[in-house]
Amino acid sequence: MTRGSRIPGFYRLRVEERRARLAEALGRAPETFAAVDPGALALDVADGMIENVVGTYALPFAVAVNFVVDGTEVFVPMCVEEPSIVAAASNAARMARPDGFTCEVSPPVMIGQIQITNVADVDAGAAALRAAADGLVAEARALVPRLAERGGGPRALDVRTLARDGVDGGVLVAHLHVDCRDAMGANLVNTLCEALADRAAAIAGGRAGLRILSNLTDERTVTVRCRIDDAQLAVGGAKRRPPYHAPAGFDPGDPSSGRSNEAGGEASGPEVRAAIAAASRFAELDPYRAATHNKGIMNGVDAVLVATGQDWRAVEAGAHAYASLRGSYRPLAVWREVPHGLEGELAMPLSVGTVGGALHVHQGARLALELAGVTCADRLAAVAGAAGLATNLAALRALATEGIQRGHMALHARGLARAAGATGELVELVAAELAATGDVKAERAREVLARLVGRRQDAALAAKLQAVQPAEEPR
Ligand code: MEV
Repeated sequence: MTRGSRIPGFYRLRVEERRARLAEALGRAPETFAAVDPGALALDVADGMIENVVGTYALPFAVAVNFVVDGTEVFVPMCVEEPSIVAAASNAARMARPDGFTCEVSPPVMIGQIQITNVADVDAGAAALRAAADGLVAEARALVPRLAERGGGPRALDVRTLARDGVDGGVLVAHLHVDCRDAMGANLVNTLCEALADRAAAIAGGRAGLRILSNLTDERTVTVRCRIDDAQLAVGGAKRRPPYHAPAGFDPGDPSSGRSNEAGGEASGPEVRAAIAAASRFAELDPYRAATHNKGIMNGVDAVLVATGQDWRAVEAGAHAYASLRGSYRPLAVWREVPHGLEGELAMPLSVGTVGGALHVHQGARLALELAGVTCADRLAAVAGAAGLATNLAALRALATEGIQRGHMALHARGLARAAGATGELVELVAAELAATGDVKAERAREVLARLVGRRQDAALAAKLQAVQPAEEPR
């Protein structure tokens, strides 16, 4: 990328202008974006992806700006149907600058499970399997020599006892730990488990059951951290009170600039900091709140996963299982007050791949990786995790201050204005009036637009009449 990811006013540009700005930053031709044009996924390609295809289904493809991830400027591709997620991510990423998000990504180790039932003596069976583990791992490694050459492949095999007796007799499960490198690894892990299952069952003295990866990828995780200064957290007029000074480039009307021009409620940085930390503690105490808190994280994570062609259901399943690992359902990210600021930390499993899967055939997903500057799985996990921590922060800041609805309504109002036929600055004028009156409805958008257009036409007519009067006067 030749330019930073900070593009003030990006949201105000037309689609073509946004493409041009991104293409310039990436050193690519704007035509590159044909990969995400309507209809870019050809029917015959779609027909080859899944069964019984009758069409394709489109979602908006957007780019969140302002992100710095591990010191690198990143455009974050996002596909999602819900308004305000992309603005929220951009907004929070702006607050986290200049340091942005720092990430620790674990090695890409997935777990494959081999269930073994009807084991007559589970202790003896488990001991026999443990004794044979190195041999089984070597056997599995021999099946994937090229992966092993690239530094990946099966790493270890361990055994857990699930039942001593019962309907299925004694039940063991062998876990095969596989470093999948840049692949998400589902096919790889399933193939290896299927290959080893009969021998593992024979060694344990039982019957082979299921052979499948686990989506609770607690060995393949990302930890993302950021620090936000108080000055970035203030909302409303409070943000303009000393000691806060608006930084250069601050556009008060730009939702991606890190500060929107919310009318109404004011809160100073320290007040917002305390309120966000309290919101975090609420999620830590209550699974009902933690579920919604985590949904706000997955808003960012999933949008990146969908854009980049990932198995987002796998990540969702893993995230919620991980959230429950300590016996109760917990938030995946927490926020703590520190002197003059706030620190956030997200830890979650994130199994993604930059080779294989939909990426083979989906040019839009490949473009998304390129936009994010991602060439390997651990970088993709870092970007998706950063997006998740960003959307979590934005949600908590809104919830802890003015409430979530004002921002949602402002964006919804813009959508309605566009749907009513407004273009250019009329979009903002119509949206502003809808938001100000609180009457954010399609019918009202049409009325406001008609009135504004009528007024403009009257003004244009009046201007025309005025222009012709001098010529007429002498007559
Ligand atoms: C809405 O999509 C997400 C939020 O509910 C998240 C949260 O409550 O933290 C706003």
